[in-house]
Amino acid sequence: MEICRSVAHIRTHVRGLRQAGHSVGLVPTMGALHDGHISLVRAAAERADKVVATIFVNPTQFGDSADLEKYPRTEDADIARLEAAGVSAVFMPQVSDIYAEDAETIVETTQLANMLHGIVRPGHYRGVSTVVTKLFNIVGPDVAAFGEKDYQQLQVIRKMVSDLHVPIEILPVPTMRESDGLAMSSRNVRLTPEDRKAAVILCQALDAAEKTVHNGTTVSDLAKSIRATIATEPRGTLEGLDIVAAESLAPLDGPINGPTAIMISVKFGDILLIDQRVVTPR
Ligand code: PAF
Repeated sequence: MEICRSVAHIRTHVRGLRQAGHSVGLVPTMGALHDGHISLVRAAAERADKVVATIFVNPTQFGDSADLEKYPRTEDADIARLEAAGVSAVFMPQVSDIYAEDAETIVETTQLANMLHGIVRPGHYRGVSTVVTKLFNIVGPDVAAFGEKDYQQLQVIRKMVSDLHVPIEILPVPTMRESDGLAMSSRNVRLTPEDRKAAVILCQALDAAEKTVHNGTTVSDLAKSIRATIATEPRGTLEGLDIVAAESLAPLDGPINGPTAIMISVKFGDILLIDQRVVTPR
């Protein structure tokens, strides 16, 4: 596996892949890799001959510099995992390679970025769409894989690609889960053992919500039952609950009668965990 620390190096590597007739899949990450990231690599490898991963802890998507500093950095283990997964090259730039000091261009999906999680994390999705655009332009892949766990991020990227005519196919990849159902996340390692056990409540609430939707319900009754389930776990505080149209993320009201995204965020200590489920009534 080629380790590329400069834009010129990754471009030369990808040019070589293209000259050999290979298609290229991209897996953008912020490192601290777990099996969920490797499932993105596998999904990309099913659609492209060679997979390129990126590891870049993107400062513009962190509102809080303390959160940025605390973000786990496990470079050697990440490189070993990507190599074992058969990745062709990893691009690991410095902040100054991605953001020139005099940079002034941003990419923002003006609606999708500023609703739901975007309200409590102002600028977050703008930071994501800006860095993903840069990574797309640097690597130039045919396809790029993104997890469904951050469902709003996935929708933001799909919209950005569609609005800007970016010639890259976006592959949505289902969330990988621990054996008790907790969605894999780089944040999980920061949970105390007690909070780690308690965190299964997110998945339990979504499982129950899915059944409720299958049996027929309204948005307000569903919200009430999800709140009640989360409240059974005193270690967690429900920070966000959104029940929205699966594609536009527009707020819903009344009976649920089409594809609906349920997005929840729950705080354990100072660790915010998110999970989501797209459900359709039967
Ligand atoms: O999902 C992530 O890890 C990040 O938001 C991404 C897509 C790599 C952009 O920094």
